[in-house]
Amino acid sequence: MLRLAAAGIDVASNVSTSFVGLLNTVREAFANSMAQETSRDVGPVVLLGPPGAGKGTQAKRIMERYQVPQVSTGDLLRYNVAQGTQLGKAAKAVMDRGELVSDDLVCEMVRLRLKQPDCRRGYILDGFPRTAAQAVWLDALLEDKFFDNSRPTRAWPIVIRLDVDYNQLLLRITGRRSCPTCGRIYNVHFQPPRVDEVCDVDGNRLVTRNDDRLEVIQPRLAAYQEQTTPVADYYQRTGRLISINGDRPVDEVTQQIFRILEDHQA
Ligand code: AP5
Repeated sequence: MLRLAAAGIDVASNVSTSFVGLLNTVREAFANSMAQETSRDVGPVVLLGPPGAGKGTQAKRIMERYQVPQVSTGDLLRYNVAQGTQLGKAAKAVMDRGELVSDDLVCEMVRLRLKQPDCRRGYILDGFPRTAAQAVWLDALLEDKFFDNSRPTRAWPIVIRLDVDYNQLLLRITGRRSCPTCGRIYNVHFQPPRVDEVCDVDGNRLVTRNDDRLEVIQPRLAAYQEQTTPVADYYQRTGRLISINGDRPVDEVTQQIFRILEDHQA
C-alpha cells in the first residue's frame, strides 16, 4: 500500500474499473515504485552469469535505482580497445577470440576503477570476477580495507547469479544491439528499438558487438563453463551465492534482484 501511495495511485477511484484494469494499474504502480531511485547504500554487488544472461541490462537498472556505478570489465576493456591504449592493444585479440583477458591486467583495471570516489556507497561488478583467482583477489582487496569498511554498509559483496537456458542465451546474444553513444542495450527479438537499428534515446545507429559473431559465441560460453563456474563454486562454498531465474522477462528479473538487495539492507 505504501508503494501505491508513494506512486500516487488512488486505489479507491479505481474500484469501478474492471478487475483486469485495476490489476494492470497495480502492476504499473509496483513497477514504477521499483524503478524509483533510492540513495541508500547498497555496498558491493556482483552479477554472475554466462554471456547474454542479462548482467549488463540488470546492472543499469540497479545503477539507476541505487545511484551506484556499474563497473563492467567488458565495457572498460572495450573502451580501452576503442582508445587504442596499451591495455586495449593487449586485450583486443584475446576478446575477439572469445577468451578471457589475463587476471593481472583485469584486476589492475578493476583496482583503479574501484578507487574512484563514486564507488564509496557501493558498485555493481558486471563480468568480474570471472576466474577463481579474480574472486580470491577481490576478497583480499576488500579485506585489506581498501574501502572504508567502517561505514555501516556491508564490506562483502552480494553475489547474484542469473541462470538462463542455453537456447535463450543464443537468442539473446545474436539479437543484441547496443547504442555506441549512450550504451543502452536492445534486442531485436525481445526489446527492439522503436525504429529499426536506431537508438530510442539519442537517435544514433545501433551496433553489434564484435564478439557476438556466431563463431565467437561458443568459445565465450566455453570460457564461462570452464573458468567462471569455479567462481560460483567459490561463493557457494562461502555461503554468498544467490541464484535467480534469469529466464524471466527483464522486469521480473529486476524485481527479483531488488528484493534481494532490499532484504540484505534490512
Ligand atoms: P563482457 O562484456 O562481460 O561480456 P559477457 O560476460 O559475455 O556478457 P554479455 O555482455 O555478453 O552479456 P550480459 O550478461 O551483460 O547480457 P546483456 O544484458 O547485454 O565480456 C566481453 C569480453 O571481455 C570477454 O569475453 C573477455 O574477453 C573480456 N572480459 C570481460 N571481463 C573479464 C574478466 N573479468 N576477466 C577476463 N576477461 C574479461 O543482455 C544480452 C541480450 O539479452 C540483450 O540484447 C538484452 O536486451 C537481452 N536481455 C537481457 N535480459 C533479458 C531478459 N530477461 N529477457 C529477454 N531478453 C533479455
